[in-house]
Amino acid sequence: MLTRSKPAWLLPETAATPESVFLNRRELCRSVAAGSILAAVPALSGIASAAADPSAGLYPAKRNDAYKLDRAVTPEKVATTYNNFYEFGSHKNIWKAAQKLKVRPWTVTIDGMVEKERTVDVDTLLRAMRLEERLYRHRCVEAWAIAVPWTGFPMKDFLDYARPLSGARYVVMETFNDKSVAPGQRQIWYPWPYLEGLTIAEAANELSMIGTGAYGKPMPKQNGAPLRLVAPWKYGFKQIKSIVRFTFTDKRPTSFWEKIQGNEYGFWANVNPEVPHPRWSQATERLLGVDKRVPTLLYNGYAEQVAHMYKDMKGERLFM
Ligand code: MTE
Repeated sequence: MLTRSKPAWLLPETAATPESVFLNRRELCRSVAAGSILAAVPALSGIASAAADPSAGLYPAKRNDAYKLDRAVTPEKVATTYNNFYEFGSHKNIWKAAQKLKVRPWTVTIDGMVEKERTVDVDTLLRAMRLEERLYRHRCVEAWAIAVPWTGFPMKDFLDYARPLSGARYVVMETFNDKSVAPGQRQIWYPWPYLEGLTIAEAANELSMIGTGAYGKPMPKQNGAPLRLVAPWKYGFKQIKSIVRFTFTDKRPTSFWEKIQGNEYGFWANVNPEVPHPRWSQATERLLGVDKRVPTLLYNGYAEQVAHMYKDMKGERLFM
């Protein structure tokens, strides 16, 4: 492993920030992301900063009722103050630091194996897409889970917009890289920028979305504004935040965590309760906000929509 200081989520989940941080208000205050601080400094909360976003008028988008939850939606304050975003720190309380990220102007480059490479302004892209809201489960590899009303557009629509060549097999996504904004990117032992990939078939799957908002508002910075991947049958680390580039290629990329610890964080990273992480069980998950542990489901409960994509893949580590 290349890391000099061990990232929190390379530790067993039990050793990571306890949920009491989010349930106990006093504890919450001590750990910076305080409800009272949120209320007192509205400009710093991802919730309030949404108002300054030029895309704010697009929210709330109409909910697509085809996607239902088997659990309550996680309280907004919990899902927006307990985050993984290593660019801003290797702990969960990055929401405040993430406010430094400037999300306008923001451009997205579409390149590689496409009919025409181009760079588009994010608001131009948003206007070209059909936004909708979906209730999705989210399962982190650390064995915590949330349920979020994401807003975004189907990645299938984005593929139509990007027009990849027929030989393209993967879409690689990249996060911004700016250490003047993101202190974590000064830690040179991480292979910045954060990078992730899907196969074209995965990207075209009905579940794959580019998330642009949450809880009926533009995406909070700490959750990956202005664009993040939402692929709910995969562990959370696949769901790259604050994307600036989509590259189409015929070569499978090596993603950020795969470069760091490939035997623990692979390319596929599909949720499976029966395949333990080398250092902890994946059989159950802790629901943030209700302090309850529930069984984890194969493909995070989305087998019906995605299992067919993997049925003929022999010799692949599909669940790691
Ligand atoms: N994207 C970037 N660029 N940097 C990150 O550190 N962390 C990932 C993923 N996307 C991460 C990222 C992990 S491990 C998880 S679980 C989810 O973001 C967390 O998303 P959330 O904070 O919105 O719940």
